[in-house]
Amino acid sequence: MLWIKAFHIIFMVTWFAGLFYLPRLFVYHADTVDQPSLTRFKLMEKRLYILMSIGAAGTALFGFWMLAAYAWAAWAAFAWLHIKMLLVVVLFAYHLYLGKLVIDFHHDRNQHNQRFYRWLNEFPSLILIAMVLLAVVKPF
Ligand code: HEM
Repeated sequence: MLWIKAFHIIFMVTWFAGLFYLPRLFVYHADTVDQPSLTRFKLMEKRLYILMSIGAAGTALFGFWMLAAYAWAAWAAFAWLHIKMLLVVVLFAYHLYLGKLVIDFHHDRNQHNQRFYRWLNEFPSLILIAMVLLAVVKPF
């Protein structure tokens, strides 16, 4: 099971690399007007979104694998696991929202300024801190 946990963490890091970097690309993309840069941003965002979606799928696959193998039986009575699962749902909603923004940018339909994307960029940091503390410390 330690192999499964290791891959869970490896995919999670891949996922979060994208969750951190994609809104950063949006920050610069939102202020871009020249055609070659617009084309380049669209391509970078699409490729990054595919890569981070693989990260998300791998994290979920190995996470649910551990859940089914032992973790639900061991910790179903503990609040940390339920809160972690709730944050998983929130994180997937955020991931899908970023996908919608990639599509909006692709069709030149961006409706937000770069300040909005700077704030959006803070969200995964909070989720990361909360989820790692819950999974590692298991405080309650
Ligand atoms: C996508 C759905 C997810 C599921 C079903 C899931 C489930 C699990 C399970 C069952 C464990 C094993 C707990 C143990 O043996 O102690 C675990 C470990 C862990 N998870 Fe997740 N997880 C998910 C997503 C995430 C995310 C998004 C993060 C980080 C933000 C994360 C961070 C961790 C860490 C750091 C550990 C190792 C804890 C330790 O061994 O000390 N997981 N996860």
